[in-house]
Amino acid sequence: KGKRAFIAGVADDNGYGWAIAKSLAAAGAEILVGTWVPALNIFETSLRRGKFDESRVLPDGSLMEITKIYPLDAIYDKLEDVPEDVKSNKRYSGSSKWTVQECAESVKQDFGSIDILVHSLANGPEVSKPLLETSRNGYLAALSASSYSYVSLLKHFIPLMNPGGSSLSLTYIASERIIPGYGGGMSSAKAALESDTRVLAFEAGRKHRIRVNAISAGPLRSRAAKAIGFIDTMIEYSLANAPLQKELSADEVGNTAAFLASPLASAITGAVIYVDNGLNAMGVGV
Ligand code: NAI
Repeated sequence: KGKRAFIAGVADDNGYGWAIAKSLAAAGAEILVGTWVPALNIFETSLRRGKFDESRVLPDGSLMEITKIYPLDAIYDKLEDVPEDVKSNKRYSGSSKWTVQECAESVKQDFGSIDILVHSLANGPEVSKPLLETSRNGYLAALSASSYSYVSLLKHFIPLMNPGGSSLSLTYIASERIIPGYGGGMSSAKAALESDTRVLAFEAGRKHRIRVNAISAGPLRSRAAKAIGFIDTMIEYSLANAPLQKELSADEVGNTAAFLASPLASAITGAVIYVDNGLNAMGVGV
């Protein structure tokens, strides 16, 4: 029987979440996505108007179907946590049930269970500030949106996940090497995410037979990355210095995600897998 995937962090056709959705769809999975509430309207409208049709084409010529789009704001676990000004904000008040707990409940009601959970989201309001200039609030916001959001998602979706299921997040090498420009506590957030990948692999593996992995992806010109500002420099650096001198395509990350979610990866858990043209292996730029 086909598998069902929930992918959190899809709001256009440029990012890793979209590419992962496509690779999973090509492998026969049913696709559900979680879209950040402020981006929901434009994403749904663009999808409906056919703006993404070209990027929906799968290798067999058919178009990827997204069975359902759920509104999600992964910095809130439950309704009681949402401040009044957010509740009444007009970008939010048009949707409901978008806290992590409510989203998981909705998916459970609609579909009963899932097999694959993907976390492809991050946010750091002070990402363009060096760590030395980052405020406590900015740092904690980066950790909340980019790291704890994964703990919370897995915690709330695990009860819906079939044993043998697989969970995945996206990380970046700035967690372990100095990447000037990836500031605001985002490097710290990715370090937490990778450490949590190991601890969550243990806990989810022992308790639920769920595998937990992360993909450390190379640079991609996504909406989020363009907002950071240094993405072109990073892509050029990789082209010049990586063992494989080609631009990384989001599909290459998508395909690795499909592999990790499949039984082909049944013994892989707690791992951080590089999909970066090998750049991580270099010691110097050449
Ligand atoms: P993207 O812009 O396609 O994805 C980020 C998504 O997060 C967006 O759809 C945004 O709406 C969503 N989001 C932000 N805050 C949210 C919240 N509170 N609740 C729910 N959704 C929220 O960009 P990209 O780059 O594909 O990012 C996906 C993942 O890949 C992120 O974890 C990112 O750190 C990671 N990554 C990206 C790299 C790159 O060069 N683009 C390199 C390595 C990792």
